[in-house]
Amino acid sequence: MAVARFRVVVVGRGKLGRAWLGALRAAGVEVRSRAGRSARGEDLHDADLVILAVRDDAVATVAEALAATVVPTRTCRAAVVHCAGRLGPEALEALGARGVGVAKMHPLLAVAGGRRSPPFAAAWLHVAGDARACRLAVRLARRLAMRVWRAADVDHVLYHAAAALLANGAAALAAVAADVLAAACGRTVTARDARTFARMLGALLASVAHNLAHVGLPDALTGPVRRGDADAVRAHLAVLDEVAPDAATLLRALVVAQLPLARALGASTQGLEAVADAVRRGGSPPPTSSSSGPAGAPFARVKRPRMR
Ligand SMILES: NC(=O)c1ccc[n+]([C@@H]2O[C@H](COP(=O)([O-])OP(=O)(O)OC[C@H]3O[C@@H](n4cnc5c(N)ncnc54)[C@H](OP(=O)(O)O)[C@@H]3O)[C@@H](O)[C@H]2O)c1
Repeated sequence: MAVARFRVVVVGRGKLGRAWLGALRAAGVEVRSRAGRSARGEDLHDADLVILAVRDDAVATVAEALAATVVPTRTCRAAVVHCAGRLGPEALEALGARGVGVAKMHPLLAVAGGRRSPPFAAAWLHVAGDARACRLAVRLARRLAMRVWRAADVDHVLYHAAAALLANGAAALAAVAADVLAAACGRTVTARDARTFARMLGALLASVAHNLAHVGLPDALTGPVRRGDADAVRAHLAVLDEVAPDAATLLRALVVAQLPLARALGASTQGLEAVADAVRRGGSPPPTSSSSGPAGAPFARVKRPRMR
């Protein structure tokens, strides 16, 4: 059966714009790209969907530029979507006011650039906006085998904070772990070692992602806190207090965050009290909401072997 024609224009040639382009081409969608600053209203005339993959702070400006040059006609049925997690569909108000369908279409995906983007298939797409634009966004999701989360009444900033906490936080945590791994080797770390560490930690993180997707929370939690193993927690904190005090501060905060999960999984109360006690003893206390937390280059203080 022939697949219905679906024409897409991707505006913006940054990390996400290039990833959309590659994924859509691979899926056999007719797609072309436009530089962020050169989008024109006529792009809407030979497309079904225009995807704005430009910086968050450029979304409204690009929408205004498109709105100023678009000629709404009965044959122009294209919709425009943006990909900014923290913005709602109203960021495209200038186009909505001209009768163009508009929506937010945010892939819950971390795209870091490079030749191989993570797969869009099976990733989630948050879609919110008017009926026409949402219908086209869902059509695009189907072409890429993405899963759709249709949610209009969300606080977009909070939604995006959740995504940033996990995706960007995990990358920062991996950097801290890589430095601790380097310290564990006790020798000069080569660039090759650093690449190996990144791959090792990437595979570990993939197993966490697998557990999260397949068994959910709290079951995805593994490790000493789940087992109520205070000896292991004490040993980790003692060595990190010595070698990497900022990593120890992070670990303390993360152990505290694991306690309710371990409790829900039925870990022994006595074991968890001992874990909580281990966190309270020695080192600096876990960051509180009023402290600046681990923002200031946490691993800068790891006593690590020199890079060659
Ligand atoms: N990367 C991700 O993991 C990811 C995931 C989900 C959502 N997003 C969202 O996707 C959008 C793009 O993110 P990105 O990571 O691809 O950023 P990026 O790599 O920094 O690319 C941003 C692009 O924005 C365009 N741009 C910058 N200033 C502009 C202006 N004043 N007017 C018009 N265009 C301008 C440029 O496009 P040209 O080079 O063509 O000029 C630039 O390449 C953002 O809204 C972001 O929140 C990103």
